[in-house]
Order: sequence, then C-alpha cells, then structure tokens
Amino acid sequence: MNLIKPITERKSIRAFKPDPVPKETIEAILKSAILAPSAINLQPWEFVIVTGEERERLSRRLIKAYKEKKISCGPGNVKPMPKTVTQRGAKTLEMMTPFFEEMKTDLNQFINEGSCNFYGAPVAILICLDDSFPKSRLVDIGLVLGYLLLIAHEYGLGTCPIGLITAYEDEIKELLNIPENKMVVIGTALGYPDLKSPINRFRSPRDDIGNLIRWIE
Ligand SMILES: Cc1cc2nc3c(=O)[nH]c(=O)nc-3n(C[C@H](O)[C@H](O)[C@H](O)COP(=O)(O)O)c2cc1C
Repeated sequence: MNLIKPITERKSIRAFKPDPVPKETIEAILKSAILAPSAINLQPWEFVIVTGEERERLSRRLIKAYKEKKISCGPGNVKPMPKTVTQRGAKTLEMMTPFFEEMKTDLNQFINEGSCNFYGAPVAILICLDDSFPKSRLVDIGLVLGYLLLIAHEYGLGTCPIGLITAYEDEIKELLNIPENKMVVIGTALGYPDLKSPINRFRSPRDDIGNLIRWIE
C-alpha cells in the first residue's frame, strides 16, 4: 500500500456537495480510524456524528454564538508565538486571498461562519475526551483525527478539521446533550468535495524541512 500518495493528496476541503454520506461509509471510516495507536490502548476518543436536520440546527446555533461572541479562528496561543510560526499563518492567509477575491467573499466571514457551518458538509463529526484524562491524552485524539482525515480521503471524501467550534463548546453540549464531563476537543466536516468551488483549488504551503529539524549526531 502506498501511504505517501494519500498523505500528499489530502488537504482541507472548504466547500461540499450536499449529497449525504451513507452511514455504513462513516462507520467504516471510523472503524479504520480507531486503529490509531493510543497510550496503554485506552482508546480515549468518543465520536458524536451529526447529520441531517440536526446538523443544520447545530450550524444555526454555532453561527448565532459566533455572531454574539465574535470568537474567530485563531491559534489559541497562551503567549506570543515565535515570529517564524506567525509568519507561516500569515503566508497561508496571503496565499488564500486570491481565492476569496475570485469568490467575491470576505475571508474572515468565509472562514469563521464557514467553520461554524462545517463548510456546508452533510456530516459533522465531533471528537470528545472524558475530562478524567490528563492533557497528554490529547495526543491520542490528534492521532485518531489524522487517521480519520486520511481514511476519509481514501473513500473519496473531503474533510476540514474545525477547531473554532471548541470556542462554543457550551452551546454544542447543550444542544447535543453532551455530558458536562466530556470535552469537545475537535470537530471535522465530512462530505463529498465540491470541486467546482475555487477554494478547493487552494493548497496550503509547508515550511522547508530544514527549518524544522535539528540533528544531534
Ligand atoms: C486542530 C485543527 C483545527 C483546525 N481548525 C480549523 C477551523 O476552525 N477552520 C478551518 O477552516 N480550518 C481549520 N483547520 C484546518 C487548517 O487550517 C489546515 O489543516 C491547515 O491550514 C493546513 O492545510 P491542509 O489541511 O489543507 O493541509 C484546522 C486544522 C487542525 C489540525
């Protein structure tokens, strides 16, 4: 099996066709995604899958919360980030700009309201973690998310992880009856990519590997 090809091909999809994704397909993707490793094989992940009218209701609630609280997509850093990191984000936004110009849409509105709307995807998957776990178990959630994104791609589906929604965790929990002791760590949109949308032609850049590694020999 060639792993490098899907890893190279995958990218975040920010416009979807409305076509529903069969339940069996979602289940098959998650069945493979949970083959991800986890510490002591605890498999701490829990998935909440929201589709149909409930998905629409969730988006309406999130967009309302966004308009009230105005918390936007951001890195969530707890102190100023190194300049090199800030520059990577700025470069990505700069490279995205022509696509928004082509779509005659405002970047902030597209990203923030789009994220709250799971970019119109028919499926929203929320990954939760019980609050009895330490912070280090977030690594396991990251791993299962990574697997999920790649496996969905293998099924011809597009995804976009949505971290913004965690800013509106209280609203999500209330609407979906998620118990207080569960953390909503991350969400992802899932659906068939709308390849006609200009934004789906965008591919984000990566820094040179030389800037990211330090050899100790
Ligand atoms: C933890 C996490 C949270 C993210 N949150 C959002 C989000 O709220 N909205 C969004 O449009 N993209 C979001 N993304 C997608 C990133 O912007 C995207 O992965 C990054 O720009 C690299 O692009 P690529 O996925 O196309 O390779 C998130 C990605 C990750 C891993």
